[in-house]
Amino acid sequence: MAVVASAGTVNTGSIDPLAEIAAIARVHNLWMHIDGAYGALAAIAVPEKFEGLAQADSLSLDPHKWLYQPLDCGCLLYRDAEIARRTFSYTGSYAKQLSSDPIEGFAFFEESMELSRRFRALKLWLSLRYHGLQAFRAAIQQDLDHAQRLVNAIKDARVLEIAAPVELSAVCFRHMVNDSATEEARNLFNLALLKRIVSRGNVYPSNTELQERCCLRVCIVNHRTMDTDIDAVVPEVLDAASQILSEQDSK
Ligand SMILES: Cc1ncc(COP(=O)(O)O)c(C=O)c1O
Repeated sequence: MAVVASAGTVNTGSIDPLAEIAAIARVHNLWMHIDGAYGALAAIAVPEKFEGLAQADSLSLDPHKWLYQPLDCGCLLYRDAEIARRTFSYTGSYAKQLSSDPIEGFAFFEESMELSRRFRALKLWLSLRYHGLQAFRAAIQQDLDHAQRLVNAIKDARVLEIAAPVELSAVCFRHMVNDSATEEARNLFNLALLKRIVSRGNVYPSNTELQERCCLRVCIVNHRTMDTDIDAVVPEVLDAASQILSEQDSK
């Protein structure tokens, strides 16, 4: 049995109460895994948001998401790696041939479900060595600041609504159309709006659905993002929305 907690969900970046979940897992002798694929790398910059992260038995991280690596570079960290080795590796015939002792017989190339594979860790190791952790910390902090900059711009545009609290760098929002629009009309409008924004080719939000509300989602995980990129989002959304509304009026 395992408990899986999220340290940054895909849609909104919300973080589970990791310390509380870890305490419950410990009492019941449960394995605790934390899915930190998107969010947990932000602990480098804002550890206070991830209290309890260090208590995980295993933690998944995607350095190709928020550590600026090219696809693909998924990591799985174990508190006790031998448990994983025993679970996954020692059925392999090579390991058994190397030694009758499972630990000594451990073969590096069997430590994964894949057999032939690239040396994915090299790019991560090299860029950490070359740039230093501080460069990554600063870039993640800049992404977090950019998300807050976008939140402020969305709040300033009264016809837009923030759809979920912004804990990390994922910002979900929607266009309200007008005060009397039904939720269904808003959903249809935001779907059309997303398609229009993407077809205009200036900014590329993604979509998400939160409590039956269709939303636009901007997730900032690029160290090259600039203030001007962030500042382009809201005017582009408003302009695309005006375009759709005026087309609807003229029908
Ligand atoms: C929170 C979270 N977990 C897991 C995954 C899956 O990651 P991968 O595609 O690298 O296997 C994602 C990818 O979007 C994610 O954001």
